[in-house]
Amino acid sequence: MSTTFQLDTATSRANPTPSPMKRLTVPKIRAHKTGGTTAEPLVMLTAYTARQAQLLDAHCDILLVGDSLGQVIYGLPSTVPVTLEMMANHGAAVVRGSYHAVVVVDMPFGSYEASKEKAFESASWLLKQTGAAAVKLEGGAAMAETVAFLNQRGIPVMGHVGLTPQAVNVLGGYMARGRSDAEADKIVSDAKSLDEAGAFAIVVEGVVEPIAIAATEAVSCPTIGIGASARCDGQVLVTDDMLGMFDRVPRFVKQYEDIAGVIERTVERYASEVRSRAFPGPEQTYQPK
Ligand code: KIV
Repeated sequence: MSTTFQLDTATSRANPTPSPMKRLTVPKIRAHKTGGTTAEPLVMLTAYTARQAQLLDAHCDILLVGDSLGQVIYGLPSTVPVTLEMMANHGAAVVRGSYHAVVVVDMPFGSYEASKEKAFESASWLLKQTGAAAVKLEGGAAMAETVAFLNQRGIPVMGHVGLTPQAVNVLGGYMARGRSDAEADKIVSDAKSLDEAGAFAIVVEGVVEPIAIAATEAVSCPTIGIGASARCDGQVLVTDDMLGMFDRVPRFVKQYEDIAGVIERTVERYASEVRSRAFPGPEQTYQPK
């Protein structure tokens, strides 16, 4: 999918505020996979703040306001304590900081599992608060009825199978899934159930490669891999992992930069200049005229 922006300042009743460019839509993302194949993989990254969204937007098809913000932003031990309010605040910031990518907001643990009605209440509130186009929720066949219910009522849903971090207390850790026949069969059938229920895309996380490929081939909607396979229809990473904000990252993360190192070295210089009174210098101070 091309990430070249089209300038479009025309207004209409549907879009009364001119926006500098047209945003991609969920149907366009869904239509990216046609006849079971995807020519160019979809690019998805997590974003949690307006400035981060501004920097990523031009290069991404989808910005995911992931509940990984629990660990990345809030220093929580897992995604389990993340609340709807946290997701709404960061989702709104990411929508404000982007014009091009489709923004998808994660539904946090406890906000959708109890019933499809509860899921609709949480998801509709999230879309109203943020202006995002879609939600993501974790789980396979068990969530299919909910996915269909939301989709039929105007809420596009991205599914998430394989390693589902909100289920860490059931899974017992974050190890790759699909090593046994039973697990492998369940991942593929979970993906199929979500596809049939109308999910517009499915994240396949932490799954041994042949099973990620089997799931991708089994569904008509695009799969987005993370720790899965280059043969998925798209890829996602947690942006802070890929930028090198953390020392330790899962094996499937490629660290493209060492931003933590850049920050540490920069702050060290600042601290030393403050302590030696080299900062602020004449350029950063006001003098009487
Ligand atoms: O919360 C998140 O960031 C995610 C991605 C890792 C897919 O769900």
